[in-house]
Amino acid sequence: MILCLNLNAAIDKTIVVSSFEIDKIHRPESVIALAGGKGCNVARALKTFREIPVVSGWVGGFAGQFIETELHQEGIQTDFVHTDFESRTCTSILDRKKQTMTEIYEMGELVPAEKVEELRTRIRAIIGNYRAVTLSGSLPPGVPIDFYASVIEIANEANVLTFLDSSGDALRKGAVAAPFFAKPNEAEAKSLLGVEPKSSIDFAQMAVEISTRYKTNVLLSMGVRGAIAARGQEVFVIKSPTVEAKSAVGSGDCMLAGLTYGFLQGLSFQQALIYAVAAGTANTLMIGAGQFKIDDFERLRGQVRILRR
Ligand SMILES: Nc1ncnc2c1ncn2[C@@H]1O[C@H](COP(=O)(O)OP(=O)(O)OP(=O)(O)O)[C@@H](O)[C@H]1O
Ligand SMILES: [Mg+2]
Repeated sequence: MILCLNLNAAIDKTIVVSSFEIDKIHRPESVIALAGGKGCNVARALKTFREIPVVSGWVGGFAGQFIETELHQEGIQTDFVHTDFESRTCTSILDRKKQTMTEIYEMGELVPAEKVEELRTRIRAIIGNYRAVTLSGSLPPGVPIDFYASVIEIANEANVLTFLDSSGDALRKGAVAAPFFAKPNEAEAKSLLGVEPKSSIDFAQMAVEISTRYKTNVLLSMGVRGAIAARGQEVFVIKSPTVEAKSAVGSGDCMLAGLTYGFLQGLSFQQALIYAVAAGTANTLMIGAGQFKIDDFERLRGQVRILRR
């Protein structure tokens, strides 16, 4: 089993209208509601690999019930701590004609300190049941910025592999606890090192810097250009196969799932990196975050090129 932390859970609602206009009433052509958050995407991807993901975090109210039920209907197990307040809803309005997306993301309610402690205690109690923990996405209001760090420490003590994919201070503080892997994208890696967002910089150097500074393996993802990995001073350049991408939303989450799956399969470091890039690339062939076809993954993993620098 793999524990997938999805702390900032939400109903992800996509409302499709033929033409979106401000100040007008719209009657949607369709409404799609899913359990949202990066941890849910990772869990979906791990399920495609026939692993057993368990999603955890905080949920509450009717929205919380919906999120849990939706995941169960997808065949994904959950182990949430329940709160007294309603989980948030994130709404995206898709204009089919203009192909625009207007997004309204609720912040979510403040998680009370006792609920933060309840989840931490729960993770400490159950960590032994898991082979790996994925820690993805932002933290909801009220959650201490070092929450990921504390989970990584708990997992490290229990010899459970940790895979961290976050941003800003949650990533910085989490990285200090030396996760097995950190997976920043280009912007997240720059922010982690305090480098100007627009500056052109050698990504291999950045990966090495993060790996040595934080004593973690690094997979720095670079969208269509693939990824660069560092294990201390050692650098691997991984090229994505060229595909006709339909949607790259959630590619990073599929990449994290591919990486986790690869290591749990007992693959070599380089092979696990190939799995990560193949899963991220396979996700671009399907509309839907965290979704990919296992056949696409199998085909693409033979096309990923990796070289040691
Ligand atoms: N257009 C593309 N063509 C081929 N591979 C892609 C493409 N976009 C993404 N990928 C693959 O997916 C991996 C992860 O993508 P990316 O770097 O965009 O992650 P991300 O920014 O964390 O995404 P997200 O947070 O939305 O899930 C890339 O390293 C690459 O292997
Ligand atoms: Mg990402």
